[in-house]
Amino acid sequence: MQKKAAFDALPKGEQLARRNGCFNCHALDKSVIAPSFAQISKRDAKEIRDTIKNGSQGKWKGFHVMMPAFKSRMTEKDLYTLQKWIGTCSSKIQKAIPAENIKETPWKVKHVI
Ligand code: HEC
Repeated sequence: MQKKAAFDALPKGEQLARRNGCFNCHALDKSVIAPSFAQISKRDAKEIRDTIKNGSQGKWKGFHVMMPAFKSRMTEKDLYTLQKWIGTCSSKIQKAIPAENIKETPWKVKHVI
């Protein structure tokens, strides 16, 4: 498949994430620079949107960079599309992290993957 065709075949949310450089820090199922999208998928939907909009630091333990704010680059619709897509990354986390560790406070789990 051509590169562009492969990109166009991705879910809209993932296209946005790739275009906006989210993958420079986040990965789908590995937490290295930032928590993985699989981990984040367990978070409250509105909190996910708000964090993308306004950025964040210090909420998750063990990461040393800031989550930048994207509000000047994204429409509300983009934020919603991203939030929905992040919600679909959850299937991967169940394999990677024991459920009892993530139920209440997933952001306290340190470098689990
Ligand atoms: C420069 C690195 C970096 C980039 C680029 C980045 N993030 Fe993050 N992101 C982080 C870090 C670090 C955290 C953890 C923040 C914290 O602990 O408060 C985070 C946290 C998050 C959260 C957690 C929300 C919560 O409430 O727990 C979401 C959602 C998120 N990022 C989505 C995105 C999306 C979508 C993009 C692209 C539009 C993106 N990030 C780009 C570093 C980054």
